[in-house]
Amino acid sequence: MSRGWKNTLKYSQVTPRADYLNRRQLMAGAVAMGFAGPAMAQIATVPSRYSTSMPPNSFEDVTTYNNFYEFGTGKDDPAKNAHTLTVDPWSVKIDGMVDNPGNYDLADIIGGATMEERIYRLRCVEGWSAVIPWVGFELSNLLNRVGVQSGAKYVKFETLVRPEEMSGQKRKLLQWPYVEGLRLDEAMNPLTILATGLYGNELPNQNGAPLRLVVPWKYGFKSIKSIVRISLVSKEPLNTWQQENAREYGFFSNVNPNVDHPRWSQATERPLGGGLFSKRIPTEMFNGYGDQVAAMYTGMDLEKFY
Ligand code: MTE
Repeated sequence: MSRGWKNTLKYSQVTPRADYLNRRQLMAGAVAMGFAGPAMAQIATVPSRYSTSMPPNSFEDVTTYNNFYEFGTGKDDPAKNAHTLTVDPWSVKIDGMVDNPGNYDLADIIGGATMEERIYRLRCVEGWSAVIPWVGFELSNLLNRVGVQSGAKYVKFETLVRPEEMSGQKRKLLQWPYVEGLRLDEAMNPLTILATGLYGNELPNQNGAPLRLVVPWKYGFKSIKSIVRISLVSKEPLNTWQQENAREYGFFSNVNPNVDHPRWSQATERPLGGGLFSKRIPTEMFNGYGDQVAAMYTGMDLEKFY
């Protein structure tokens, strides 16, 4: 299954590298001058038909309450500690069953992909949820450019390992690198994006700069941050949380109010921003994205394949 775009991953053929770098510098300057945040739309995007109409959480909410174990286990640890990570230059290794494997600069990974603003709901397996305006592009765009070969059935993702800049990695909080995976049809689904920003700006480090996955119908842990490797493979990859505790975390991890976590119910969620005692709301099957994704799981026992 190899589609188009052969050997054309070079972003420089589409937009001169200098333009891209200038934009990054402009952004860095804006951040230094204190202009960053929801008021400034720095990355040119088009709106998406896949966006939810629910009102987004505040920039503050989604950048100060995070899970990113590479910087510690506390919800405020990533915001405190992730500034130490160097995100430029950044390259991503693409390997496995692809026509065009290689080490690609971030600019080439983005290529000429259309950058969209995608306002998605994110439901964390721990029970909180948020509505986040991402900036990103469809993962399928990248996969089509690198040329997926016919034996590939899954996509495996890995986060950077750099303990000198990722303080949590100095301890064995998890097995590093953080690993995630998707079945190929899930990876090719138009809802699955690679995000490079939120609120119109580049991603804050605590949210997974400079490149993270966002899979809105799955629990948040599938949305792996600071990706450095994408591999097309034939076997289902063992993802980090399944490796930690297979009884509690499966491969699919589709949001499902009817299948409880062994230690707590998944029937309701607490929207971020309302304080710890805010009213919980019912969780929706596939996090409300069932129309677009349910067909991929027809006939599957979702209690068994959790
Ligand atoms: N990616 C890496 N590399 N390390 C992590 O610890 N945590 C996951 C996911 N991606 C995590 C990660 C979990 S549990 C969640 S809920 C989301 O990131 C949180 O994303 P956010 O902080 O942008 O809301």
